[in-house]
Amino acid sequence: MCGIVGAIRNQGPVLAGLVEGLRVLEYRGYDSAGVAVSDEGKIKSAKRQGRLDNLEARLTDSSLENGVAGIGHTRWATHGPPSDENAHPHLGASGCVALVHNGIIENWAELKGELLADGVRFVSDTDTEVLAHLIDRERADASDLSDAVRRALRRVSGYYALAVLAETGDGPELVCARQGPPLAVAFVDDAAYLASDVLGILPHTREISFLEDGDVAVLRPGDVQITDFGGKSVVRPAQAIDWDPEDTGKGGWPHYMLKEIHEQPDVLARTIQGRIDDEAADVVFEDGAFANDAVRDVARIQVIACGTALHAGYIARYLIEGLGGVPVDVDYASEFRYRGPRIVPGTMALAISQSGETADTLAATRLARELGASVGAICNVAGSSQVRESDHVILTHAGPEIGVASTKAFTAQVAAVTLLAVRLGRARGTLSKEDASAILNELKLLRTRIESMLGEHAVDHVRRVAQSHAEQRGFLFLGRGINYPVALEGALKLKEISYMHAEGYPAGEMKHGPIALIDPGMTIVSVSSTGPLAEKVRANIEQVKARGGVVLSVGSDPESHAIAGQSLEVPASSEWLSPILNTVPLQLLSYAIADMRGCDIDKPRNLAKSVTVE
Ligand code: G6P
Repeated sequence: MCGIVGAIRNQGPVLAGLVEGLRVLEYRGYDSAGVAVSDEGKIKSAKRQGRLDNLEARLTDSSLENGVAGIGHTRWATHGPPSDENAHPHLGASGCVALVHNGIIENWAELKGELLADGVRFVSDTDTEVLAHLIDRERADASDLSDAVRRALRRVSGYYALAVLAETGDGPELVCARQGPPLAVAFVDDAAYLASDVLGILPHTREISFLEDGDVAVLRPGDVQITDFGGKSVVRPAQAIDWDPEDTGKGGWPHYMLKEIHEQPDVLARTIQGRIDDEAADVVFEDGAFANDAVRDVARIQVIACGTALHAGYIARYLIEGLGGVPVDVDYASEFRYRGPRIVPGTMALAISQSGETADTLAATRLARELGASVGAICNVAGSSQVRESDHVILTHAGPEIGVASTKAFTAQVAAVTLLAVRLGRARGTLSKEDASAILNELKLLRTRIESMLGEHAVDHVRRVAQSHAEQRGFLFLGRGINYPVALEGALKLKEISYMHAEGYPAGEMKHGPIALIDPGMTIVSVSSTGPLAEKVRANIEQVKARGGVVLSVGSDPESHAIAGQSLEVPASSEWLSPILNTVPLQLLSYAIADMRGCDIDKPRNLAKSVTVE
């Protein structure tokens, strides 16, 4: 999804920093890019369809190098196809205002009609250009740029994060505003920065403030002033972000995805670190989150999430019902918000989100709160909207995840859910001390168990297996019980990055439809169970083999592997922890297949890392 950066400095050019910031935000997904700077009383801009490299090639012969204030954008097309003209920034009619924008201006057509009647000429198909002209027009009667922005925004309905650069003749003005998609601001001695994602600011400072809906910020070197849309001053205290800017590099790995897969032993150790009380066989979260008083009387948990995070939510259902004794519903955020949901008294909504900025997840959680639910969140980004808006938060501590296909963030979510299930079970008396201790000990073993699956020998084996499936027509991933969502996640990962058709199914449902697909061109990936369902999974594999199907067995059940004839082995563990372990070889399998097929693994086509509009 689109990315925004902006900077204003006392002296010294901003262009290189803007392009660097856009480079960091590339992972979010985009199809064109552009920058505008203010230099010697003029706004100068450059924009190009396609990758940032295209824009950089254009910048070598440009005169943008000297600007001391500027904005930049990576666009993910909504209104109008990807093209040079539709790329941001868009300029107002005077040429003295430039705008970049994430989100949607819903009443753009009406505003455009008005501006056309005033004689304004449009050069793009975007809703953003309408707003650029509107702000430009408002400047005539406004005291300064922030006043013009506030006046224009009063006319606008929709969702946006925007940054506006204007040239007054006396120097540049830089303003940003938020209504929906995220926006963060920060300042250091001689500069101020804005970005749609903390990663765009981290190279400059770790002290970052997050705008809230209805905020307008004015950036000056060494200062940021924030007001509401009425012009009243508001304070958004800076938060210290503990991510290391170095973590945003590939660190020698060919792809972020592979780097992030290999980070999982450390990530999972971080997710559980400092949260286990061995003596009480219990879990203690920071800031009193999910403490006894808050969870003892919870009657129902409503999980809300999208994409990979939803699969963590399905696993949460098994863990929380099984260990915590609380009934759980799980819903796609985009479905929950429009199905007229009923919320029983005592419901806690549990949002699961890597970014904490997914528009559907935020909207669905807000709706749950309106309907009377309390709100918990499992999230990777401190300071994100989801975190700020939740009563109880578990940060996953996975560090920045840059690969569009989620890996370490997912396993960290599942580890966090496991901790939460134990907490609920202990608070509500459904989990004995012995059983809780056993699960907590298994959590501590995850690090070494996953390390063993990521050794050179094991990874080579996955690659060899992948080779024999890379040209298949399609894949069916099957799992049962707590490993059914692992099958869903395995299929999602493969289709996201290799563009091969893959479906996840509960193994018990195979006979009700997918069995018709079985032939030598279709690989059946069977995620094994070790508990009471193990026998049933083996029977499913037999059924596939009997029909001439190709089976790859993943998990820790040697008998399943023997029947399948080909396997990816996983260290034995308690069934409760098996989803995390079983996910790892599936990630490696998808990666290897996508790599063999020459796909753009970190930036799969059409996908965005963080979907901040509906
Ligand atoms: C997008 C990403 C997925 C992610 C989903 C939810 O679709 O491509 O990888 O799982 O959004 O994102 P969230 O940040 O809420 O976990």
